[in-house]
Amino acid sequence: MKGRVAYNNLLSEGYYRLRLILPVEIKAVPGQFVMVKVSESGDPFLPRPFSIAFASENRLDVIYKVKGKGTGILARLETGDEVIVTGPLGNGFSFPSSADTKVIMVAGGVGIPPLYFLLKSLIKKKISRKRIYLFYGAKNKDSLLLTDELEALGINLFLSTDDGSYGSKGLITDFYLDRVKEIEPPAVVYTVGPNVMMSRVVEISRNLRYPVEVSLETHMACGIGVCLGCTVKPKEQYFTRLGYLKVCKDGPVFPGEYFF
Ligand SMILES: Cc1cc2nc3c(=O)[nH]c(=O)nc-3n(C[C@H](O)[C@H](O)[C@H](O)COP(=O)(O)OP(=O)(O)OC[C@H]3O[C@@H](n4cnc5c(N)ncnc54)[C@H](O)[C@@H]3O)c2cc1C
Ligand code: FES
Repeated sequence: MKGRVAYNNLLSEGYYRLRLILPVEIKAVPGQFVMVKVSESGDPFLPRPFSIAFASENRLDVIYKVKGKGTGILARLETGDEVIVTGPLGNGFSFPSSADTKVIMVAGGVGIPPLYFLLKSLIKKKISRKRIYLFYGAKNKDSLLLTDELEALGINLFLSTDDGSYGSKGLITDFYLDRVKEIEPPAVVYTVGPNVMMSRVVEISRNLRYPVEVSLETHMACGIGVCLGCTVKPKEQYFTRLGYLKVCKDGPVFPGEYFF
């Protein structure tokens, strides 16, 4: 379907928030993604996957970092321009099963968009903000996105940057390790970011017996389970049972223990 650009705002150097207006209502679960075909000219030929950062009625937000050709073209879109959007695709996060469960999120860099959508959805479902914890770290102030909005939400928020230019200085996983012991069970953990960060989050959470959901990123061509371009191999004990998994169709959200 065609999405019309409502705005394409620069958040900080190299990061944008794109709002598209779709012809129909979009019913999306946090963690799902869309494929965006950035150019009608056929270059680049393949659409690009982006997590849904927010969706309501016929509005769809994507928050992206300019990396190469496709996102470079996206960054030049102006209000009123059109792109082809496919989705929502894939499986999203499962919502906590009971109202007293603490919700812990750990985001790294441009891993924040799907967790931002999850946050907004939990708050809409009237989950108490006191039960929600977000640990969010990035390289520096420019890469730490949506800070004003996150700070205004009234959740338990821990921000860090590697260089100390915003929030605490250090790795977000170190702050997570320090603080998670103070969070009383039951709790569930959602994490999106670099593999090395998600791996550490799974390791720390495993010791506390908190279930973790991770969201994987791979290159994608079709986004619908046909091309096998996004195939990943889970750990041996899961591979025996599940075989290879497609990030676009079986994920991108998976139980953390499948891979880490
Ligand atoms: C399920 C999913 C959700 C995503 N959500 C977001 C999001 O919310 N915001 C966001 O900014 N990005 C997101 N991405 C990554 C995004 O799709 C890529 O950054 C984008 O496709 C790059 O396109 P490009 O044409 O600009 O770069 P290209 O010119 O295609 O590549 C530029 C560089 O980026 C690398 N690259 C491209 N795609 C990926 C990838 N998927 N993983 C790792 N490296 C890659 C290439 O190897 C190359 O080095 C997501 C990816 C997936 C699979
Ligand atoms: S991207 Fe084609 S099978 Fe997943």
